[in-house]
Amino acid sequence: MRALTWHGRHDVRVETVPDPEVINPRDAILRVTSTAICGSDLHLYDGYIPTLRAGDVLGHEFMGEVVETGPKSTLKKGQRVVVPFTISCGDCFFCKKQQYSACDNSNPAETFDASRLLMGHPMGAAFGYAHLTGGYAGGQAEYVRVPYSDVGPIVVPDHVEDDEVLFLSDILPTGWMGAENAEIEEGDTVAVWGCGPVGLFAIQSAKIMGAHRVIAIDHYPRRLELAKQMGAEILDYREVDVREALDEMTGGIGPDACIDCVGMESHGLTIDNIADTLKAHTFLGTERPHALRQMIMACRKGGRISIPGVYGGFADKFPLGQMMEKGLTLKQGQTHVQKYTKPLLDMIEQGKIDTTFLISHRAPLEQAAEMYRHWHDEQDSYTKIVLKTEMAMPRQAQKEQQHELA
Ligand SMILES: NC(=O)c1ccc[n+]([C@@H]2O[C@H](COP(=O)([O-])OP(=O)(O)OC[C@H]3O[C@@H](n4cnc5c(N)ncnc54)[C@H](O)[C@@H]3O)[C@@H](O)[C@H]2O)c1
Ligand SMILES: [Zn+2]
Ligand SMILES: [Zn+2]
Repeated sequence: MRALTWHGRHDVRVETVPDPEVINPRDAILRVTSTAICGSDLHLYDGYIPTLRAGDVLGHEFMGEVVETGPKSTLKKGQRVVVPFTISCGDCFFCKKQQYSACDNSNPAETFDASRLLMGHPMGAAFGYAHLTGGYAGGQAEYVRVPYSDVGPIVVPDHVEDDEVLFLSDILPTGWMGAENAEIEEGDTVAVWGCGPVGLFAIQSAKIMGAHRVIAIDHYPRRLELAKQMGAEILDYREVDVREALDEMTGGIGPDACIDCVGMESHGLTIDNIADTLKAHTFLGTERPHALRQMIMACRKGGRISIPGVYGGFADKFPLGQMMEKGLTLKQGQTHVQKYTKPLLDMIEQGKIDTTFLISHRAPLEQAAEMYRHWHDEQDSYTKIVLKTEMAMPRQAQKEQQHELA
């Protein structure tokens, strides 16, 4: 099959690799129809996440058609499913608490110890995301093996298009959980740093959860424009002093909750960020948490900080005292995707959530390497890329045929 493989920093290729096979009884094999490139893939592309190996298949946002099932899979051939990026067994202590991204069984034994050493406890597994999280082949490919297929995948109805439901795999639940972790109360002012796909869904979710005002911060005009479309007031951090602007907009109090949809690769020519960047490039550090530092300073006393953005290790100059003195609460984590797919699918079907407004580009899987370059270099105009395999084409052709007959 054809798949997007990682070979080193800024080096990804579409290559022919072996087809996946059913290994465990609960596995299913999916013929991928649509798959997206995520901001998290940039951390891999930029070489900031350790333990990737040359030839690894990337991709953790995907959906498709079931073509093969193990004896204990509950899926049926021909079903269309969206797959959460988190691989979770459904049976362990954590899965039973619906803390799916903390699953204790999905990360195989050989990587268990390394991740325990680095994080204190072994991490759960994810598709297409380095060997620390299990080394599972990802879904930017024609086919993918889905472990625990009786727990993760959600069957989607025929009448919805791929693009309407694809983001249930990650960024929609991630934006939603980001807003949920901000513990929004009716009437709150919520500030969202980063207007990438996660930020845009966090803005939409915060509004649904009752935020009176959402203030969105970024520096890319088109991304800010999309945030505005979702009902946010916008701040371009190149044009204003963000903290002062937020104070001014909130009567000197600061936002009630702040959501970090930027993660470990903050942009901006500030002293702290320049120092972080130098450290990251000389392997003396991994994090560039400028936005996070800024939001801790900006948040109102007694407010909440939610971090869906990904971080990789130890952060320097973290404003711990400021958090303590201001009495801030902080929540974060990899998304417990399986917990949110069903209610969010219902909301999509009821027309309560718009999931397609952010897609700027659709391209064939064969062009995936080129699309990674655009996603990295042209973030303003490339607001979300969806890759289509040839398998997506028959459905499209069928639709067109039906349309012609009608
Ligand atoms: N927790 C999870 O399970 C989970 C899931 C998916 C993605 N993520 C993470 O969420 C983050 C966002 O993902 P995305 O796909 O939207 O990524 P993205 O790279 O498309 O978007 C990040 C945005 O942050 C903006 N930004 C950078 N520096 C900033 C600053 N100083 N102030 C304000 N904005 C700034 C960028 O301009 C960009 O628009 C990433 O770190 C990603 O890894 C986490
Ligand atoms: Zn993702
Ligand atoms: Zn589990």
